[in-house]
Amino acid sequence: MQKKYYIETYGCQMNVADSELVAGLLEKNGYTKTNLDLEANIIFLNTCAIREHAEDKIHSRLGRLNKLKKNKPETIIGILGCMAQNVKDDILENKPYVDFVLGPDSYKRIPDLLKRQLIQEESIVDTRLSKFEVYENLFPSRNNGVNAWVSIMRGCDKFCTFCIVPFTRGRERSRSLQSIIDEVKKAVDMGFIEVTLLGQNVNSYNHNNVKFPKLIDSVANISGLQRIRFTSPHPQDIDDELLFVMRDNHNICNSVHLPLQAGSNKILKKMNRTYTKEKFMILSDKIRNILSNSSITTDIIAGFPGETEKDFNETLDVMNYVKFDSAFTFKYSSRPGTKASEFDNHIDERIRQLRLAKLVELQKIHTLHRNKLEIGKKVKVLVEKNSKKSKNKLSGRTDNNKWVIFPNNNINIGEIITVKITDARGISLFGEKIKMKDENYAII
Ligand code: SAH
Ligand code: SF4
Ligand code: F3S
Repeated sequence: MQKKYYIETYGCQMNVADSELVAGLLEKNGYTKTNLDLEANIIFLNTCAIREHAEDKIHSRLGRLNKLKKNKPETIIGILGCMAQNVKDDILENKPYVDFVLGPDSYKRIPDLLKRQLIQEESIVDTRLSKFEVYENLFPSRNNGVNAWVSIMRGCDKFCTFCIVPFTRGRERSRSLQSIIDEVKKAVDMGFIEVTLLGQNVNSYNHNNVKFPKLIDSVANISGLQRIRFTSPHPQDIDDELLFVMRDNHNICNSVHLPLQAGSNKILKKMNRTYTKEKFMILSDKIRNILSNSSITTDIIAGFPGETEKDFNETLDVMNYVKFDSAFTFKYSSRPGTKASEFDNHIDERIRQLRLAKLVELQKIHTLHRNKLEIGKKVKVLVEKNSKKSKNKLSGRTDNNKWVIFPNNNINIGEIITVKITDARGISLFGEKIKMKDENYAII
């Protein structure tokens, strides 16, 4: 009988990449993938613990899986990822239908544990975190597409006071340059057009003193690789050398994710973010100066403990100064175990919500402002998928990471085409493919 696995991924791209590693392991051991949980022999949820809401989603999903298991008791259910640490006690005590709880450093044990599970009744729990890179030689089973995720480092040593990641993912550790180059080459040989280098703190990469600028420069020299992105960097570790490497390699995309979190120096300090708002603004200017036409995107939290109206207005001031191309905005969510969860002056839910709404509203204006500056430009777009919004249209991303929607004039997914931007509405750009003919061009 065919053994089938089903895996559902929550959270960030690191989890997406990890699920592909797990898929690779399962396929090596004779499992095939299914997109239907009902027909799977084994169901994995790869979980996220970044905010309370993320955890709530998993709890309600587990409730439904419990019902599924009542009808199909032989199904194996496993919890992977960042929630493993938090849920293990609850699982052992209250959720006997969960067979595995495995933290992010334990996936190599899956094939072995699956064998053991056949003879064992109790849940298997392993949430130990490693000080070393544990997946150096594993190759992921990638979803088809144009972009390949490549994890280059794991963990985080920054300990921002609001953040659970250093606890769920453990200490920073980087893969060797050679193993990364090998994996990227393999992805290019398989036909991937773009790679995204991943890490919780991607630009803290350091393996035997090879740092991130050197690494990304080496990756950019891999022949046939057309686009390179990276996420998520920390502002503290963006230096001139990295910006110059980005400027000098045409295949490193012109976009920088620069998580602000907050605009008041008092709050930044309480968050342990290691920069001031002035330093942040200088850095954003530098990025736009060195990388012409670069986009800058960000993450912002509203309502960190102790944030006054004045502090919050300083966040709006920085947004107004930088005018980010887009932003992920969140209301502060207290994470047990983090330093900030023990701070005084937690902000009322209603105020956090109001502040979040203000962030969203202001960002919409900035996104549109930035996108309108693109109108009339001829830009390279990597065609990624059929547009969800309109029939017979495709969408893809520009070098500076903006989504463009354009008519499908016999264009293939995976092609890089030149598009003339004709309009900007909402958060999207609209355009048409053009043919470059010498200096002239015509819309076709
Ligand atoms: N390593 C990345 C962040 C990963 S988490 C970085 O430093 O940028 C992604 C984002 O989630 C963070 O940037 C932050 O804005 C948000 N976040 C993290 N913890 C949070 C919390 N407790 N409440 C609300 N948002 C949070
Ligand atoms: Fe979390 Fe800060 Fe580390 Fe990012 S840098 S993962 S926000 S602790
Ligand atoms: Fe979530 Fe873990 Fe990523 S907490 S955001 S899945 S590193």
